[in-house]
Amino acid sequence: MSDDTKIIFVGNYKGGVGKTTSVLNFAEHLAKKDKKVLVLDLDPQSSLSEILVKNNGAVLKDLEDERTLNYVFDLNINTIKKYKSMKLKFNRKIIQRYKKDGFQYDFIASSLFYRDHMGLDELAIKMEDTMEYLSILKNYLDSVLDENRYDFVLIDCPPSNNLITRSAFLLSDYYVIPTILDGISSNGVAHYINTINETYHMYCVHSNDFMLAKHYFGKKPKLIGVFCTFIRGQVNYNAATKELVDTLIKNCRAEEIHFFKEEINNYIDIARSTEIGEASKARNDYELLTDSILRRLEEIQEA
Ligand SMILES: Nc1ncnc2c1ncn2[C@@H]1O[C@H](COP(=O)(O)OP(=O)(O)OP(=O)(O)O)[C@@H](O)[C@H]1O
Ligand SMILES: [Mg+2]
Repeated sequence: MSDDTKIIFVGNYKGGVGKTTSVLNFAEHLAKKDKKVLVLDLDPQSSLSEILVKNNGAVLKDLEDERTLNYVFDLNINTIKKYKSMKLKFNRKIIQRYKKDGFQYDFIASSLFYRDHMGLDELAIKMEDTMEYLSILKNYLDSVLDENRYDFVLIDCPPSNNLITRSAFLLSDYYVIPTILDGISSNGVAHYINTINETYHMYCVHSNDFMLAKHYFGKKPKLIGVFCTFIRGQVNYNAATKELVDTLIKNCRAEEIHFFKEEINNYIDIARSTEIGEASKARNDYELLTDSILRRLEEIQEA
């Protein structure tokens, strides 16, 4: 596995703030810069998978069970519970290529139709809070990264917490948080950052097997930054911005938090383009933000 691969999750426990849209846009803009990108859909609703599979000319409902992330979890959960001596290998066919005019990237779909609606949330309930289960995703991803070179792995996280998302936090190198600026979302962002920190501490600092967990998962994921979505032209956001900054400084370790000055506006073209699996051609908000994320990554690495 290449040490250069950056694993980044996009998350916020608040729903509908543009997480999935952001992943789709980042993937395209990074791919257009000749970066090799793999997208993972960890949302049980599988909306990103639905978009990508559809715009690849197929239907998520008809995707073979064997080609989903659900299959990877299902089989691993089964072996851990019943057949510990079985060593599983997964086929390259789980990774799909998303090809459009001028760019391409890979993705691994999850499906809410797997085995008669056994979504990732149901599979997560079958897992136990032990290293065996928490290592399922990383073991699988490591095997994928052993065989394929990627510059970036982007993970679309659901607005909820379960053992699958927790394992994604632990294995990731970085994360970004999209948020809306409505005054009451600030506490949610602070809570999310604290949850990531606490999750890392719970397994890699305070558990009985913290040495092993830390060796296996590596360092705590770093927050690349927080960015604002659904910005409307006529609205004055000064008070809400101040509230967000103040809340984060008060409730989190301030030095970890970067606020992107690049904002994502509320544009119908961004939503329409997402539906057809593309970044907006009319609006370059996400392109500017992707550039800024790349600059920020360089700064973090130099620090
Ligand atoms: N900048 C934008 N301008 C207008 N519409 C947008 C924008 N970003 C996202 N949308 C639309 O808002 C809705 C929610 O966006 P999205 O699905 O990306 O949010 P999410 O955070 O992933 O939601 P969930 O928490 O349910 O996973 C979608 O219909 C999407 O097309
Ligand atoms: Mg989403």
